Amino acid sequence: MQKAEGLSPLPPWRRTDYCGNLRAGDAGREVALWGWVASRRDHGGLIFIDLRDREGIVQVVFNPERAAAAHQIARQMRLEYYVAVKGAVIVRSEATVNKELATGEIEVAAQEAQILNESVSPPFPIGDEAAAEDIRLRFRYLDLRRPEMQRNLRRRHRALAGARAYLDSQGFVEIETPILWRATPEGARDYLVPSRINPGKFYALPQSPQLLKQLLMVSGFDRYYQVARCFRDEDLRANRQPEFTQIDIEMTGPRTEDVMAVGEGMIASIYRHALGVELPLPFTRMKYDDVFARYGTDKPDLRFGLEILELSQPFAGTGFRIFAESLSRGETIHGIRLPANFALSRRELDEMTESLRLRNGLGLAWVRASAGGWQGPIAKFVAADEGARVAEAAGICEGDLLLMVAGERSRVLPVMGDLRLQLGTRFGLRESDARCFLWVSDFPLLEYNAEERRMVPVNHPFTAPHPEDLERLNSDPLSVRALSYDLVLNGEEIGGGSIRIHNRELQLRIFELLGFTREQAEEKFGFLLEAFGYGAPPHGGIAFGVERISMMLCNTDSIRDVMAFPKTQKAVDLMSGAPSDVSQVQLDELSIRVTK
Ligand code: AMO
Repeated sequence: MQKAEGLSPLPPWRRTDYCGNLRAGDAGREVALWGWVASRRDHGGLIFIDLRDREGIVQVVFNPERAAAAHQIARQMRLEYYVAVKGAVIVRSEATVNKELATGEIEVAAQEAQILNESVSPPFPIGDEAAAEDIRLRFRYLDLRRPEMQRNLRRRHRALAGARAYLDSQGFVEIETPILWRATPEGARDYLVPSRINPGKFYALPQSPQLLKQLLMVSGFDRYYQVARCFRDEDLRANRQPEFTQIDIEMTGPRTEDVMAVGEGMIASIYRHALGVELPLPFTRMKYDDVFARYGTDKPDLRFGLEILELSQPFAGTGFRIFAESLSRGETIHGIRLPANFALSRRELDEMTESLRLRNGLGLAWVRASAGGWQGPIAKFVAADEGARVAEAAGICEGDLLLMVAGERSRVLPVMGDLRLQLGTRFGLRESDARCFLWVSDFPLLEYNAEERRMVPVNHPFTAPHPEDLERLNSDPLSVRALSYDLVLNGEEIGGGSIRIHNRELQLRIFELLGFTREQAEEKFGFLLEAFGYGAPPHGGIAFGVERISMMLCNTDSIRDVMAFPKTQKAVDLMSGAPSDVSQVQLDELSIRVTK
């Protein structure tokens, strides 16, 4: 081979096909392929190369007797060299068919070959198996050559194509909004960008385009969407990144059902484009109060039952001291019925009890229904008629187990919700590939934040209060529901939005409840309040997490598997080393002194 000096010339023939697309029907065709050497086996005479491109792998055979020059070149090929090959597609003999490969019925008999670029030895083999994650992220461009990553990112692309096609068909207009902007309160810290031209002043990267999309309704676009980058400086988890993408939607004059209908239509189009499946519509709808009472969370996994039961009533007047004391304090008793076919051992029950005590400071009481009555540590404290009342309320049959926790309702329900998920995992109920979409609506408008000692919005401050509850805004603000909604899929929140406030006075009143003075509200959100004064139409919308949807489409638990260049849990890009130091000159220009 001529040693490449700078750029190697392109071969005289153009690529005709992708490696992974060739099939038995192509037999006899002459093809030209470009790709990476995924493996190379030198059998002395014949050399076999697996050639990989974005569509997959095909075997290429170099025969020294038929194509001596090409064979010479193949001898120099090594893993991850980028090569061009020209040859004929031939059908493999029955015995040599490779059922593991989509192209396994054929191979390409090379006639000509050229090495277009060499590769140093890769830091990990680029096969189906994933290497350790830090090294994958350090060499992300190589990790992305992996078939699974290729599939994931292309599925994400199909998802976005599906969303765009649907929204376009419904008259939504895609409008880009600034990245260098002001802080929008979405509950996270802001990423700040110093302004050189305005020393001491900062832009904030948008946590979402929330206010801008509302302003676009004031401007009359009527239906807007954007595939929008959002930036939130918050603690990272398996499903969170500091920088992520939303499909952001806003419309004029909708009711909750209208936004839901658009959201469902878009999700259905996404699944059609990305997976070729048709989702049954409409999705299930439930109110927050109901969801919280039955599942102890606002994002329940509905792939299984094991709902939380309220047992305070049947236990009224109980002889079991702990329950009786709880009830006398105004607390509640909740239970989960575990049908007989889900058997838990005594050891598992003891472990569960201990973990609940240590983690939540709550006791777990359990009884098993047997032919002769209740069994278990607390059985002797429960009178027969009381046991019968509870059994009826909980729908207990022989062999069933009833797990119960007493305490303050708002504290016990989330604990029961966790317990329910643990049981779901323990019995393999969360492995089901069912897709349980659920709209949850009517969240509370505000909640009390003990740390900040003030009320904070459950959603964001621009969410409209439920009109039926408006009269309690002054007297009992924490009981006011919001015109808000989330879309949940199998226990994951994939989208959320609300009908907005479009009235200046109401918006000011909400800011006031959140602890802003009028001046502070004007200073921060004056432009919005001002805009509301110019005939702002009623409006509402929603935003969907593109990564969360893609994770579901790709069946992965890690958000990093559906992003090209993600950051680690410590918000670092291991490949480029961002965030990095900057020069003193740059800092001086920005009037910034680092005090670290
Ligand atoms: P919200 O904050 O609920 O709403 O965000 C909408 C959706 O975006 C996704 N998401 C994230 N995905 C990855 N990493 C993150 N750090 C992250 N944070 C949120 C979730 C979530 O459901 N302005 C409102 C929307 C509106 O009211 O229209 C908003 O941003 O899937």
